[in-house]
Amino acid sequence: VGVGFEARNPEPHASVRPWPIVAGKRSEETLAALREAGDLILSLESSCDETAMCIMDSHGVVCANVVATQIDFHARFGGVVPEIASRKHTEAIVGLFEETMARAGAHFGCDTLVPSDLSAVGVTAGPGLVGALVVGVAFAKGFCVTTDLPLIPVHHLEGHLLANLFETPDLEPPFVASLVSGGNTMLVHVRAWGDYVVLGSTIDDAVGEAFDKVAKALGLGYPGGPVISKLAAQGNPKAIHFPRAMMHSGDYSFSLSGLKTAVITYIEGENRAGRAINLPDLAASFEQAVIDVQVAKAKTAVEETGVSDFCVGGGVAANPALRAAYKETFGKMGVRVTVPPMLVCGDNAAMIAVGALRSYRTQGFSPLTLDANPNAQLGSWSSDAAPVVPSGM
Ligand code: KG4
Repeated sequence: VGVGFEARNPEPHASVRPWPIVAGKRSEETLAALREAGDLILSLESSCDETAMCIMDSHGVVCANVVATQIDFHARFGGVVPEIASRKHTEAIVGLFEETMARAGAHFGCDTLVPSDLSAVGVTAGPGLVGALVVGVAFAKGFCVTTDLPLIPVHHLEGHLLANLFETPDLEPPFVASLVSGGNTMLVHVRAWGDYVVLGSTIDDAVGEAFDKVAKALGLGYPGGPVISKLAAQGNPKAIHFPRAMMHSGDYSFSLSGLKTAVITYIEGENRAGRAINLPDLAASFEQAVIDVQVAKAKTAVEETGVSDFCVGGGVAANPALRAAYKETFGKMGVRVTVPPMLVCGDNAAMIAVGALRSYRTQGFSPLTLDANPNAQLGSWSSDAAPVVPSGM
Protein backbone atom coordinates (compact mmCIF):
# COMPACT_ATOMS: atom_id res chain seq x y z
CA VAL A 1 0.00 0.00 0.00
CA GLY A 2 1.36 3.39 -0.93
CA VAL A 3 4.23 1.93 -2.94
CA GLY A 4 4.23 3.05 -6.57
CA PHE A 5 4.52 0.82 -9.60
CA GLU A 6 8.11 1.88 -10.29
CA ALA A 7 9.26 1.15 -6.77
CA ARG A 8 7.73 -2.30 -6.90
CA ASN A 9 9.11 -3.03 -10.36
CA PRO A 10 12.54 -1.41 -10.50
CA GLU A 11 14.29 -1.44 -13.84
CA PRO A 12 17.87 -2.71 -13.70
CA HIS A 13 20.31 0.20 -13.77
CA ALA A 14 22.60 0.68 -16.73
CA SER A 15 26.06 0.01 -15.37
CA VAL A 16 28.86 2.49 -15.84
CA ARG A 17 32.23 0.82 -15.62
CA PRO A 18 35.75 2.13 -16.14
CA TRP A 19 37.13 1.04 -19.51
CA PRO A 20 39.79 -0.08 -20.02
CA ILE A 21 39.70 -2.05 -16.76
CA VAL A 22 42.07 -0.49 -14.23
CA ALA A 23 44.32 -3.11 -12.64
CA GLY A 24 46.74 -2.90 -9.72
CA LYS A 25 50.47 -3.46 -9.90
CA ARG A 26 51.56 -7.05 -10.54
CA SER A 27 54.22 -8.98 -8.63
CA GLU A 28 57.11 -10.85 -10.25
CA GLU A 29 55.37 -14.14 -9.34
CA THR A 30 52.20 -13.06 -11.13
CA LEU A 31 54.11 -12.02 -14.23
CA ALA A 32 55.98 -15.34 -14.23
CA ALA A 33 52.72 -17.30 -13.80
CA LEU A 34 51.16 -15.40 -16.70
CA ARG A 35 54.17 -16.12 -18.91
CA GLU A 36 54.02 -19.80 -18.01
CA ALA A 37 50.27 -19.93 -18.78
CA GLY A 38 50.82 -18.69 -22.34
CA ASP A 39 47.92 -17.44 -24.43
CA LEU A 40 44.64 -17.02 -22.54
CA ILE A 41 41.22 -17.63 -24.10
CA LEU A 42 37.99 -16.08 -22.84
CA SER A 43 34.94 -18.22 -23.62
CA LEU A 44 31.23 -17.43 -23.31
CA GLU A 45 28.09 -19.56 -23.17
CA SER A 46 24.53 -18.20 -23.27
CA SER A 47 22.52 -20.70 -25.32
CA CYS A 48 19.78 -21.39 -22.78
CA ASP A 49 19.31 -20.32 -19.16
CA GLU A 50 22.90 -20.11 -17.98
CA THR A 51 25.21 -17.16 -18.61
CA ALA A 52 28.71 -18.58 -18.27
CA MET A 53 32.30 -17.49 -18.86
CA CYS A 54 35.65 -19.19 -18.56
CA ILE A 55 39.27 -18.26 -18.99
CA MET A 56 41.52 -21.11 -20.08
CA ASP A 57 45.29 -21.02 -20.55
CA SER A 58 47.25 -22.45 -23.46
CA HIS A 59 47.81 -25.74 -21.59
CA GLY A 60 44.07 -26.28 -21.10
CA VAL A 61 44.07 -25.18 -17.45
CA VAL A 62 40.84 -23.54 -16.32
CA CYS A 63 41.88 -20.25 -14.65
CA ALA A 64 38.31 -19.08 -13.92
CA ASN A 65 34.93 -20.64 -14.53
CA VAL A 66 31.78 -18.73 -13.60
CA VAL A 67 28.14 -19.70 -14.17
CA ALA A 68 25.19 -17.38 -13.48
CA THR A 69 22.02 -19.41 -13.60
CA GLN A 70 18.56 -17.95 -14.24
CA ILE A 71 16.72 -21.04 -13.00
CA ASP A 72 14.81 -19.10 -10.31
CA PHE A 73 13.27 -16.80 -12.91
CA HIS A 74 11.99 -19.71 -15.01
CA ALA A 75 10.95 -22.03 -12.16
CA ARG A 76 7.55 -20.41 -11.65
CA PHE A 77 6.72 -21.14 -15.30
CA GLY A 78 7.86 -24.78 -15.18
CA GLY A 79 10.33 -24.30 -18.02
CA VAL A 80 12.61 -21.82 -19.75
CA VAL A 81 10.80 -18.72 -21.06
CA PRO A 82 12.91 -17.55 -24.04
CA GLU A 83 12.20 -13.81 -23.63
CA ILE A 84 13.14 -13.93 -19.95
CA ALA A 85 16.29 -15.86 -20.83
CA SER A 86 17.60 -13.23 -23.25
CA ARG A 87 16.78 -10.39 -20.86
CA LYS A 88 18.55 -12.06 -17.94
CA HIS A 89 21.62 -12.79 -20.08
CA THR A 90 21.75 -9.09 -20.98
CA GLU A 91 21.53 -8.09 -17.32
CA ALA A 92 24.16 -10.59 -16.18
CA ILE A 93 26.79 -10.54 -18.88
CA VAL A 94 28.85 -7.45 -17.98
CA GLY A 95 29.02 -8.28 -14.27
CA LEU A 96 29.85 -11.86 -15.12
CA PHE A 97 32.73 -10.72 -17.33
CA GLU A 98 34.17 -8.60 -14.50
CA GLU A 99 33.81 -11.46 -12.04
CA THR A 100 35.51 -13.88 -14.44
CA MET A 101 38.42 -11.48 -15.04
CA ALA A 102 38.77 -10.95 -11.27
CA ARG A 103 38.71 -14.68 -10.51
CA ALA A 104 41.28 -15.36 -13.23
CA GLY A 105 43.33 -12.56 -11.66
CA ALA A 106 43.15 -14.35 -8.30
CA HIS A 107 44.32 -17.53 -10.04
CA PHE A 108 47.46 -15.64 -11.08
CA GLY A 109 47.85 -13.79 -7.77
CA CYS A 110 46.68 -10.33 -8.89
CA ASP A 111 43.45 -8.33 -8.56
CA THR A 112 42.14 -8.82 -12.08
CA LEU A 113 43.09 -9.69 -15.62
CA VAL A 114 42.68 -6.98 -18.26
CA PRO A 115 41.61 -7.47 -21.89
CA SER A 116 45.21 -7.13 -23.12
CA ASP A 117 46.03 -10.33 -21.17
CA LEU A 118 43.71 -12.27 -23.50
CA SER A 119 44.50 -13.77 -26.90
CA ALA A 120 41.10 -14.80 -28.28
CA VAL A 121 37.38 -14.96 -27.53
CA GLY A 122 35.36 -18.15 -28.00
CA VAL A 123 31.57 -18.10 -27.94
CA THR A 124 28.70 -20.56 -28.27
CA ALA A 125 27.17 -19.59 -31.62
CA GLY A 126 24.53 -22.35 -31.66
CA PRO A 127 22.39 -24.34 -31.30
CA GLY A 128 20.08 -22.97 -28.62
CA LEU A 129 17.48 -20.26 -28.07
CA VAL A 130 18.19 -17.59 -30.64
CA GLY A 131 17.43 -14.66 -28.33
CA ALA A 132 19.76 -16.14 -25.72
CA LEU A 133 22.56 -16.98 -28.15
CA VAL A 134 22.65 -13.49 -29.64
CA VAL A 135 23.47 -11.94 -26.26
CA GLY A 136 26.70 -13.95 -25.96
CA VAL A 137 27.54 -13.57 -29.64
CA ALA A 138 26.92 -9.79 -29.58
CA PHE A 139 29.02 -9.39 -26.43
CA ALA A 140 31.84 -11.45 -27.95
CA LYS A 141 31.76 -9.52 -31.22
CA GLY A 142 31.69 -6.16 -29.44
CA PHE A 143 34.56 -7.24 -27.23
CA CYS A 144 36.56 -8.34 -30.28
CA VAL A 145 35.92 -5.03 -32.03
CA THR A 146 37.24 -3.02 -29.09
CA THR A 147 40.20 -5.28 -28.36
CA ASP A 148 41.12 -6.54 -31.84
CA LEU A 149 41.07 -10.11 -30.55
CA PRO A 150 40.12 -12.97 -32.91
CA LEU A 151 36.63 -14.45 -32.57
CA ILE A 152 36.04 -18.22 -32.38
CA PRO A 153 32.56 -19.74 -32.76
CA VAL A 154 31.96 -23.00 -30.87
CA HIS A 155 29.10 -25.50 -31.26
CA HIS A 156 27.25 -25.98 -27.97
CA LEU A 157 26.88 -29.76 -28.32
CA GLU A 158 30.49 -30.22 -29.36
CA GLY A 159 31.26 -28.45 -26.07
CA HIS A 160 29.18 -31.01 -24.14
CA LEU A 161 31.02 -33.77 -25.97
CA LEU A 162 34.45 -32.25 -25.25
CA ALA A 163 33.56 -31.92 -21.54
CA ASN A 164 34.31 -35.65 -21.30
CA LEU A 165 38.02 -34.83 -21.64
CA PHE A 166 37.94 -33.39 -18.11
CA GLU A 167 37.23 -36.93 -16.89
CA THR A 168 39.16 -39.08 -19.38
CA PRO A 169 42.23 -37.26 -20.71
CA ASP A 170 43.12 -40.07 -23.14
CA LEU A 171 39.67 -40.22 -24.71
CA GLU A 172 40.18 -40.50 -28.44
CA PRO A 173 37.94 -41.27 -31.40
CA PRO A 174 36.43 -43.46 -32.53
CA PHE A 175 33.78 -43.53 -29.82
CA VAL A 176 30.02 -43.18 -29.39
CA ALA A 177 28.54 -40.27 -27.43
CA SER A 178 25.05 -39.76 -26.09
CA LEU A 179 24.12 -36.07 -25.86
CA VAL A 180 21.16 -35.60 -23.56
CA SER A 181 19.97 -32.24 -22.28
CA GLY A 182 16.86 -30.11 -21.96
CA GLY A 183 16.94 -29.38 -25.69
CA ASN A 184 18.70 -32.35 -27.29
CA THR A 185 18.72 -36.13 -27.33
CA MET A 186 21.04 -37.80 -29.80
CA LEU A 187 23.50 -40.60 -30.35
CA VAL A 188 26.66 -39.62 -32.17
CA HIS A 189 29.41 -41.72 -33.73
CA VAL A 190 32.61 -39.71 -33.33
CA ARG A 191 34.73 -41.25 -36.12
CA ALA A 192 37.54 -38.73 -35.70
CA TRP A 193 37.83 -35.31 -34.06
CA GLY A 194 35.43 -33.06 -35.94
CA ASP A 195 33.93 -36.03 -37.85
CA TYR A 196 30.55 -36.53 -36.24
CA VAL A 197 27.89 -38.87 -37.58
CA VAL A 198 24.56 -38.31 -35.87
CA LEU A 199 23.16 -41.83 -35.66
CA GLY A 200 19.75 -40.70 -34.47
CA SER A 201 17.95 -38.14 -32.35
CA THR A 202 14.57 -37.50 -30.76
CA ILE A 203 11.60 -37.03 -33.02
CA ASP A 204 9.78 -34.98 -30.37
CA ASP A 205 10.79 -34.08 -26.78
CA ALA A 206 14.32 -34.21 -25.39
CA VAL A 207 15.08 -36.42 -22.36
CA GLY A 208 15.64 -33.45 -20.03
CA GLU A 209 12.42 -31.89 -21.30
CA ALA A 210 10.52 -35.08 -20.35
CA PHE A 211 11.94 -34.86 -16.81
CA ASP A 212 10.97 -31.18 -16.70
CA LYS A 213 7.41 -31.79 -17.95
CA VAL A 214 6.77 -34.68 -15.56
CA ALA A 215 8.03 -32.53 -12.67
CA LYS A 216 5.77 -29.71 -13.82
CA ALA A 217 2.74 -32.04 -13.89
CA LEU A 218 3.54 -33.03 -10.31
CA GLY A 219 4.04 -29.42 -9.23
CA LEU A 220 7.69 -30.08 -8.40
CA GLY A 221 9.11 -27.00 -10.12
CA TYR A 222 11.90 -26.54 -12.65
CA PRO A 223 14.30 -28.10 -13.54
CA GLY A 224 12.73 -31.50 -13.13
CA GLY A 225 15.79 -33.73 -13.53
CA PRO A 226 17.43 -33.25 -10.12
CA VAL A 227 14.19 -33.51 -8.10
CA ILE A 228 12.83 -36.50 -10.06
CA SER A 229 16.13 -38.38 -9.81
CA LYS A 230 16.29 -37.78 -6.04
CA LEU A 231 12.76 -39.12 -5.60
CA ALA A 232 13.48 -42.02 -7.94
CA ALA A 233 16.40 -43.16 -5.79
CA GLN A 234 13.87 -44.07 -3.06
CA GLY A 235 11.25 -45.66 -5.31
CA ASN A 236 10.53 -48.96 -7.00
CA PRO A 237 11.27 -48.75 -10.76
CA LYS A 238 8.92 -51.68 -11.42
CA ALA A 239 5.92 -50.22 -9.55
CA ILE A 240 4.20 -48.73 -12.61
CA HIS A 241 4.64 -49.84 -16.18
CA PHE A 242 5.30 -47.01 -18.60
CA PRO A 243 5.94 -47.45 -22.36
CA ARG A 244 9.47 -47.84 -23.74
CA ALA A 245 8.84 -45.88 -26.93
CA MET A 246 10.76 -46.92 -30.04
CA MET A 247 12.75 -49.48 -28.06
CA HIS A 248 12.54 -51.92 -30.97
CA SER A 249 12.26 -49.45 -33.85
CA GLY A 250 15.47 -50.78 -35.36
CA ASP A 251 17.02 -47.33 -35.62
CA TYR A 252 18.51 -44.70 -33.33
CA SER A 253 15.50 -42.39 -33.13
CA PHE A 254 13.96 -41.57 -29.77
CA SER A 255 10.49 -40.45 -28.77
CA LEU A 256 9.75 -39.07 -25.32
CA SER A 257 6.41 -37.34 -25.70
CA GLY A 258 4.35 -40.57 -25.46
CA LEU A 259 6.05 -41.45 -22.18
CA LYS A 260 5.41 -37.97 -20.82
CA THR A 261 1.72 -38.26 -21.80
CA ALA A 262 1.48 -41.73 -20.23
CA VAL A 263 2.84 -40.35 -16.94
CA ILE A 264 0.47 -37.37 -17.01
CA THR A 265 -2.49 -39.66 -17.84
CA TYR A 266 -1.51 -41.86 -14.89
CA ILE A 267 -1.34 -38.85 -12.55
CA GLU A 268 -4.76 -37.61 -13.71
CA GLY A 269 -6.28 -41.10 -13.34
CA GLU A 270 -5.01 -41.45 -9.78
CA ASN A 271 -6.21 -37.95 -8.92
CA ARG A 272 -9.67 -38.72 -10.32
CA ALA A 273 -9.85 -41.96 -8.35
CA GLY A 274 -8.86 -40.04 -5.21
CA ARG A 275 -5.75 -42.16 -4.66
CA ALA A 276 -2.55 -40.68 -3.31
CA ILE A 277 0.37 -40.90 -5.71
CA ASN A 278 3.48 -42.63 -4.48
CA LEU A 279 5.94 -40.04 -5.80
CA PRO A 280 9.15 -42.09 -5.42
CA ASP A 281 7.57 -45.07 -7.25
CA LEU A 282 6.24 -42.84 -10.01
CA ALA A 283 9.59 -41.08 -10.42
CA ALA A 284 11.54 -44.37 -10.40
CA SER A 285 9.19 -46.02 -12.92
CA PHE A 286 9.35 -43.03 -15.26
CA GLU A 287 13.13 -42.77 -14.95
CA GLN A 288 13.55 -46.50 -15.63
CA ALA A 289 11.48 -46.26 -18.82
CA VAL A 290 13.81 -43.49 -20.02
CA ILE A 291 16.97 -45.36 -19.02
CA ASP A 292 15.94 -48.67 -20.62
CA VAL A 293 15.58 -47.05 -24.05
CA GLN A 294 18.68 -44.87 -23.72
CA VAL A 295 20.85 -47.81 -22.68
CA ALA A 296 19.43 -50.26 -25.26
CA LYS A 297 20.05 -47.89 -28.19
CA ALA A 298 23.47 -46.86 -26.93
CA LYS A 299 24.43 -50.54 -26.60
CA THR A 300 23.38 -51.28 -30.19
CA ALA A 301 25.27 -48.21 -31.43
CA VAL A 302 28.44 -49.31 -29.65
CA GLU A 303 28.10 -52.85 -31.01
CA GLU A 304 27.39 -51.75 -34.57
CA THR A 305 30.23 -49.23 -34.70
CA GLY A 306 32.63 -51.55 -32.88
CA VAL A 307 34.03 -48.81 -30.63
CA SER A 308 35.48 -49.41 -27.19
CA ASP A 309 34.67 -46.03 -25.66
CA PHE A 310 31.31 -44.52 -24.81
CA CYS A 311 30.65 -41.11 -23.29
CA VAL A 312 27.73 -38.92 -22.26
CA GLY A 313 27.22 -35.17 -22.38
CA GLY A 314 24.56 -32.62 -21.39
CA GLY A 315 22.56 -31.82 -18.28
CA VAL A 316 20.94 -35.27 -18.08
CA ALA A 317 24.42 -36.84 -17.86
CA ALA A 318 24.18 -35.78 -14.19
CA ASN A 319 21.48 -38.42 -13.60
CA PRO A 320 23.00 -40.97 -11.16
CA ALA A 321 20.82 -43.91 -12.26
CA LEU A 322 21.61 -43.33 -15.94
CA ARG A 323 25.34 -43.07 -15.18
CA ALA A 324 25.16 -46.32 -13.19
CA ALA A 325 23.15 -48.13 -15.90
CA TYR A 326 25.71 -47.25 -18.57
CA LYS A 327 28.57 -48.35 -16.35
CA GLU A 328 26.88 -51.66 -15.61
CA THR A 329 25.90 -52.49 -19.20
CA PHE A 330 29.15 -51.42 -20.83
CA GLY A 331 31.30 -52.70 -17.99
CA LYS A 332 30.19 -56.23 -18.87
CA MET A 333 31.14 -55.63 -22.51
CA GLY A 334 34.60 -54.25 -21.73
CA VAL A 335 33.62 -50.82 -23.10
CA ARG A 336 35.00 -47.84 -21.16
CA VAL A 337 32.33 -45.36 -20.03
CA THR A 338 33.10 -41.69 -19.45
CA VAL A 339 30.70 -39.27 -17.81
CA PRO A 340 31.81 -35.66 -17.36
CA PRO A 341 32.48 -34.36 -13.82
CA MET A 342 29.22 -33.02 -12.33
CA LEU A 343 30.50 -29.42 -12.59
CA VAL A 344 30.67 -29.60 -16.38
CA CYS A 345 27.50 -31.66 -17.06
CA GLY A 346 25.17 -28.66 -17.14
CA ASP A 347 25.78 -25.67 -19.38
CA ASN A 348 29.14 -24.01 -18.70
CA ALA A 349 31.83 -22.12 -20.58
CA ALA A 350 34.76 -24.40 -19.65
CA MET A 351 33.56 -26.94 -22.22
CA ILE A 352 33.28 -24.10 -24.77
CA ALA A 353 36.85 -23.09 -23.94
CA VAL A 354 38.06 -26.60 -24.86
CA GLY A 355 36.59 -26.17 -28.36
CA ALA A 356 37.82 -22.57 -28.59
CA LEU A 357 41.41 -23.46 -27.62
CA ARG A 358 41.39 -26.25 -30.20
CA SER A 359 40.26 -23.81 -32.90
CA TYR A 360 42.68 -21.11 -31.68
CA ARG A 361 45.58 -23.44 -32.38
CA THR A 362 44.39 -24.01 -35.94
CA GLN A 363 43.40 -20.35 -36.49
CA GLY A 364 39.74 -21.34 -36.81
CA PHE A 365 38.63 -17.72 -36.53
CA SER A 366 35.39 -16.16 -37.71
CA PRO A 367 34.83 -12.74 -39.25
CA LEU A 368 32.75 -10.36 -37.13
CA THR A 369 29.78 -11.01 -39.42
CA LEU A 370 29.21 -14.16 -37.31
CA ASP A 371 25.56 -14.67 -36.43
CA ALA A 372 24.01 -16.94 -33.84
CA ASN A 373 22.63 -20.07 -35.51
CA PRO A 374 19.94 -21.68 -33.35
CA ASN A 375 19.88 -24.78 -35.59
CA ALA A 376 23.62 -25.27 -36.16
CA GLN A 377 24.48 -28.86 -37.10
CA LEU A 378 26.97 -30.75 -34.97
CA GLY A 379 30.31 -30.36 -36.74
CA SER A 380 29.83 -26.65 -37.54
CA TRP A 381 32.92 -24.58 -36.64
CA SER A 382 34.76 -27.80 -35.79
CA SER A 383 38.21 -29.02 -36.79
CA ASP A 384 40.05 -32.29 -37.21
CA ALA A 385 42.71 -31.09 -34.77
CA ALA A 386 42.88 -32.95 -31.46
CA PRO A 387 41.72 -30.81 -28.52
CA VAL A 388 44.15 -29.90 -25.73
CA VAL A 389 43.34 -32.02 -22.67
CA PRO A 390 41.73 -29.64 -20.17
CA SER A 391 42.23 -29.63 -16.42
CA GLY A 392 41.49 -27.64 -13.31
CA MET A 393 37.79 -28.35 -12.74
O1 KG4 B 1 22.63 -29.15 -20.56
P1 KG4 B 1 21.64 -28.40 -19.72
O2 KG4 B 1 22.14 -27.69 -18.49
O3 KG4 B 1 20.87 -27.32 -20.56
C1 KG4 B 1 20.40 -27.54 -21.83
O4 KG4 B 1 19.29 -28.09 -21.95
O5 KG4 B 1 21.17 -27.19 -22.78
O6 KG4 B 1 20.52 -29.48 -19.32
C2 KG4 B 1 19.42 -29.14 -18.53
C3 KG4 B 1 18.51 -30.34 -18.48
C4 KG4 B 1 17.18 -30.05 -17.79
O7 KG4 B 1 16.14 -30.53 -18.60
C5 KG4 B 1 17.28 -30.84 -16.50
O8 KG4 B 1 16.04 -31.29 -16.01
C6 KG4 B 1 18.17 -31.98 -16.89
O9 KG4 B 1 19.13 -31.40 -17.75
N1 KG4 B 1 18.82 -32.61 -15.72
C7 KG4 B 1 18.58 -33.89 -15.34
C8 KG4 B 1 19.30 -34.07 -14.13
N2 KG4 B 1 19.95 -32.91 -13.83
C9 KG4 B 1 19.65 -32.03 -14.82
N3 KG4 B 1 17.82 -34.83 -15.89
C10 KG4 B 1 17.76 -36.02 -15.25
N4 KG4 B 1 18.40 -36.28 -14.09
C11 KG4 B 1 19.17 -35.34 -13.50
N5 KG4 B 1 19.79 -35.61 -12.34
